[in-house]
Amino acid sequence: MNKHILLFAFLVFVYLTTLLSCKKDPPIIDINKPDSIPTYNPTPYELDIPEVLKNKTPNYNTNNPLTNEGVKLGRMLFYDPILSKDNTQSCSSCHQQNFAFTDPRQFSIGVDGIAGTRNSMQIDNVLWKKPFFWDGRAADIEEQALEPVPNPIEMHLSWVEATKKLKRHASYPSLFYQAFGDTIIDSLRIAKAIAQFESILISSNSKWDQFLISNKTPFEFFTPEEYAGYLIFNSETGDCFHCHTEDVMLTDNLFHNNGLNATHNDYGLGAINNNPEDIGKFKTPSLRNVEYTAPYMHDGRFNTLEEVVEFYSFGLQVSPTVDPLMKFAHLGGVQLNEEERAQLVAFLKTFSDDSFISNPNFSSPF
Ligand code: HEC
Ligand code: HEC
Repeated sequence: MNKHILLFAFLVFVYLTTLLSCKKDPPIIDINKPDSIPTYNPTPYELDIPEVLKNKTPNYNTNNPLTNEGVKLGRMLFYDPILSKDNTQSCSSCHQQNFAFTDPRQFSIGVDGIAGTRNSMQIDNVLWKKPFFWDGRAADIEEQALEPVPNPIEMHLSWVEATKKLKRHASYPSLFYQAFGDTIIDSLRIAKAIAQFESILISSNSKWDQFLISNKTPFEFFTPEEYAGYLIFNSETGDCFHCHTEDVMLTDNLFHNNGLNATHNDYGLGAINNNPEDIGKFKTPSLRNVEYTAPYMHDGRFNTLEEVVEFYSFGLQVSPTVDPLMKFAHLGGVQLNEEERAQLVAFLKTFSDDSFISNPNFSSPF
């Protein structure tokens, strides 16, 4: 008799728990209901590689081919505050298109109101860049995309919670299915979709790009002031080209101490690899769209390009790891006079690509 009661109680328990769990979380895609299953027919995304980038090898991830469905999903995720703890912040909060996907604040503020210690970075031409972050701690763009969501000073949402929210959402389960072909939603797929969207953020239409694909000499192509700046940038006078290379990328993708500090609070690359020789080294940022990416440097200490060129002229600090390319560090810098500094700034503005910051395909889908 007792046995029967126990069995009955157990069955009631099982019935109620299944009922409750079904009530709480109805599956949006139900394999028993063919109507609820979206089609999986991914269309390869036709990435139009512009002429100026054609002879550079892109770092495609063969495990994450670009598809229309993946890019669309990534674009939604990039702009959707659903990936933050209190639904207030998305990637785009700190990477705003009109600032070439940077944050105009010196330090971005996360969902808990805590400011970081680094300035946000531009997102463009990522297929031709790596590693990522000022200190290079993410080897590729997908690894990078895994960081901001759980980061306590950024979006501060655990992956368990993030995936739960997406699974309950009215349209994400279907969008993930269309992009990846089954009902799994996890951190890797979120990162893959975001990486696909970031991969299409190509900037290639600045005056500088147009010059690179023209058959003209710099003298013929640029205004006299820009041309004077070009000569400063690309010669020993200003000595910028060694690190901000004289090509479409405007970065050597390497790490240098460019003389910002005599002593270092932020060790940069040196904190990642524990190598004392790398203390104070940071990734050379691309100067593409530099007119729009203020404030400048890893800690956003300079507000204007004029301040930056003044720093390279007279403000350099010597420390044990200062780059040997900063040849005039002991004199404070390359000593450009006022006219030369203005010419250099005029040349830096030829890196601006207005069509990139206004491209409607890169803006919020909401
Ligand atoms: C609270 C502000 C904030 C949010 C939100 C944020 N980022 Fe960032 N992002 C930053 C900062 C600051 C850095 C530089 C951090 C560092 O180097 O330590 C950065 C760096 C990056 C970089 C590196 C670029 C490079 O060239 O190395 C990429 C890519 C990026 N973020 C993408 C994203 C994506 C994708 C999301 C959303 C999943 C996101 N970010 C959310 C502030 C933010
Ligand atoms: C030894 C390599 C090196 C040389 C030479 C060099 N830079 Fe830099 N540049 C860097 C590095 C590294 C950073 C980032 C430093 C940091 O934030 O700690 C940087 C940052 C910048 C930034 C800020 C960009 C941003 O998005 O925050 C600008 C602008 C800039 N450099 C312009 C120049 C100009 C102009 C010259 C020539 C006068 C020059 N650089 C020479 C390596 C170099």
